Amino acid sequence: MTTNFDEIIDRSNTNAAAVEGFQDYLFDADVEITLNHAPEDLVSMWVADMSFASAPAAIAAIQKRLAHPVFGYTMNFDNAYYDAFVQWTQQQYGWQFAREALLISSGVIPALFDLVDQLCGVNETALTLTPAYGYFKHAVTHHHRELRTSPLKVADGHYTIDFEDLQRQTADPAVRVLFLCHPHNPTGRSWTDAELRQIGEICFENNVIIVSDEIHCDLLRVGKQHTPLAKLFPDSDQIITCMAPSKTFNLAGMMTANIIIPNPELRALWQARSHPFVSPLGLAAAQGAYENGHDWLQALRAYLDKNFNVLAATLKQELPQAVFQIPDATYLAWVDLSAYLPADLNLTKFFLEEAGVIMEGGEMFVADGGTRVRLNVACPTSTLLEGLRRIVAAVNAYKTSV
Ligand SMILES: Cc1ncc(COP(=O)(O)O)c(C=O)c1O
Repeated sequence: MTTNFDEIIDRSNTNAAAVEGFQDYLFDADVEITLNHAPEDLVSMWVADMSFASAPAAIAAIQKRLAHPVFGYTMNFDNAYYDAFVQWTQQQYGWQFAREALLISSGVIPALFDLVDQLCGVNETALTLTPAYGYFKHAVTHHHRELRTSPLKVADGHYTIDFEDLQRQTADPAVRVLFLCHPHNPTGRSWTDAELRQIGEICFENNVIIVSDEIHCDLLRVGKQHTPLAKLFPDSDQIITCMAPSKTFNLAGMMTANIIIPNPELRALWQARSHPFVSPLGLAAAQGAYENGHDWLQALRAYLDKNFNVLAATLKQELPQAVFQIPDATYLAWVDLSAYLPADLNLTKFFLEEAGVIMEGGEMFVADGGTRVRLNVACPTSTLLEGLRRIVAAVNAYKTSV
């Protein structure tokens, strides 16, 4: 089995969030949307899954597991999954961790919710770098706390960390946890080893635990290399690393994520309070993908690189004042359209209504999103080109209407 990344796969009638679930997620109930396109004609470039078939190695492993007819309660009892995953982390990032540190969750999102509950005392909370992945905020507000934010610095589309601010904010004893996103959604930055060392040193000095969400770590541009934060701090057990096969192999619906908790007390808390069961199909899919998905991932990365080049060339030609840099990682493009569109425009609504393109505007990313959009380019190049044609037309129509 190989994957033809150019194939357009109809996802209707599969309960796919990408095509059927956008309205509830992206808009409050009282926001009225006027679609100028038929629902089946919308181009979906929002939620972070891919329009491609999932990795064949995962599909084959699911099929093999289906040959056994019992799908009862399942946990990660034996060593087979650990062996497959740790071989992956060793090969991909030169990093290993102990068997007992590996816990399986039904996703990084549920893990974030659980970790706020387990790590933060009543008057404690988490900090993150903004703009940020929305669930960092939801996980904190769900537990009746306010997320602290440290704005990233940006120059010509390149994001860096404001270390002075990070130092100042982590010095507040109320900040117990840093939610680090590495590589970073939505900016696409893969933090350098020097940046990671500085983040770690600041946090440990201030007794702040780091939850390092590395879910996008396998989706780097060809030639780039991921360094897990924990690899740089082999003597610290104050880093909880979250990785998953969901982005890498397009398995988000399989509800399986790796939460690596080296500290025995923190692990005991997790074991006492988190839901212990996993999906048997999800576990099989993840193991199969880690064992046999390497070549497919290489082909995927090359295809994503090509799509990013198409995007960069189109923006340069059609919207030359858009600020965009091809990201180090992820399949998400983060494009500044402030030269064309006003700061108070809800971009998610604007592009849905005017272009028939579903994507997320800066307002969806906790804070400091600005007049930017996040476009998911993990789709056939023909779909990307159609989405871009519509986006460009909508921006040009806006320009002439004001
Ligand atoms: C940074 C980040 N963390 C977590 C998730 C979701 O994780 P999961 O599907 O394992 O719950 C996403 C999905 O977009 C993400 O971008």
